[in-house]
Amino acid sequence: MVALLGYSRQQIVSAVQDMYTAVAEAPTSPFHFPVGGRACERLGYPAEYTAGLPPALLDSFAGVGYPFRADAIRPGDTVLDIGAGAGNDSLIASHIVGPFGRVIAIDLTAAMTRKLKQSVEGSDAGNLDVVQASAEQLPLPDASIDAITSNGALNLVPDKRRAVTEMFRVLRSNGRLQLADVVIHRPVSVDCHDDPRLWVECVVGATVKEELLALFAETGFEDVEVMGSHDYFALSPSQQTREVAESFGAHSIEIGMRRSEQAPSLPRQWAKRLDPRRWLLRLRRRGLLGLSALGLALLSCYGTLALAGLLPLLGIGLALHEGAWAGTIAGLVLFTLMAIAGGYRHHRAGGPILLAAAGSAAILYALFIEYLALVELFGFVVLGGAALWDLHRRRRQEVKVLGLDRSSSAG
Ligand SMILES: C[S@@+](CC[C@H](N)C(=O)[O-])C[C@H]1O[C@@H](n2cnc3c(N)ncnc32)[C@H](O)[C@@H]1O
Repeated sequence: MVALLGYSRQQIVSAVQDMYTAVAEAPTSPFHFPVGGRACERLGYPAEYTAGLPPALLDSFAGVGYPFRADAIRPGDTVLDIGAGAGNDSLIASHIVGPFGRVIAIDLTAAMTRKLKQSVEGSDAGNLDVVQASAEQLPLPDASIDAITSNGALNLVPDKRRAVTEMFRVLRSNGRLQLADVVIHRPVSVDCHDDPRLWVECVVGATVKEELLALFAETGFEDVEVMGSHDYFALSPSQQTREVAESFGAHSIEIGMRRSEQAPSLPRQWAKRLDPRRWLLRLRRRGLLGLSALGLALLSCYGTLALAGLLPLLGIGLALHEGAWAGTIAGLVLFTLMAIAGGYRHHRAGGPILLAAAGSAAILYALFIEYLALVELFGFVVLGGAALWDLHRRRRQEVKVLGLDRSSSAG
């Protein structure tokens, strides 16, 4: 079972299907994200592409970018459109591939596939098949697709690694992928399960841009290139959505890439996943850098002391350079202080910084002026309290921005 940000897989699937049933059946209702032909135009679709689209399908356009910027589709290709929705991109692809090509449009929401099927019947798009299925389990054989297009769907999928692995499986070697999706600068960390609306409005389920690009590279895609980006949520009619998007740095990007001949070996995949620079970035964006640096400082301080006590019992001598040892601890303590100070940007509270400065001063005093074990310990306790306070303030600010405080008091 997937439990992301407190959501269960079923909760996500139901929320997605409810929302996109509404986009299919009542596209003129107010939505918190841009829908329809006007959005399509503002995202950069050329008029010659949109002119021939059935108005009813164009009304239900809910894409987040213009994936065709990556130019992945060729005449004669077999193309898969994942999360096709009302199928505007599928129809454009069906024109590009021509009579010798084929397009398979897949979507999770029955109302969307119904709408597209009805429109295709009786049209000249005889090379377009519509299937209701999930991106996490594509009903297609291995290496059966020349090109994949997807617009605004991956951010809604609970298990993105599985969806990307499925894309790799169904694409033939050197097959191409064009994708538009929402990415964020900083991930949501609080439990949002009381409000499934937040997932389907495209911000909460989105991935940090670097992590999304890394996911494709790890899975075996090459030449992963960002072709364009949009301040997509600036087009949203909802002020709250615009504020949420701004707070998390949400925007949309268009990406192009190519499937390599072979998936990377497991050790190579793990080497990429365990890259320390990625972990550092992840910890910073989740606001956990202060606590992590503090953990390292504690380990350097008391872990080294424990080693210095234990190793001689095993007959191993430990030569400790006290200046270097104190310098390492001091460096980590100052790094913790700086990471806590960075929280001010998010919550505008000075308290955690003042507390962290007091804790750091006590530790530095014990390290460099007069060693008193109790003062040092006191300093670490105070610094730990400051790191937790900062984290608490960051999370509270997220809850406020996402409107979760309002929804829980209303519920
Ligand atoms: C933002 S809309 C975009 C639709 C379409 N690509 C367009 O440009 O108008 C996302 C679509 O992805 C579909 N979707 C969401 N999760 C999915 C999944 N796990 N598998 C397949 N489709 C999914 C939704 O039903 C919805 O129609």
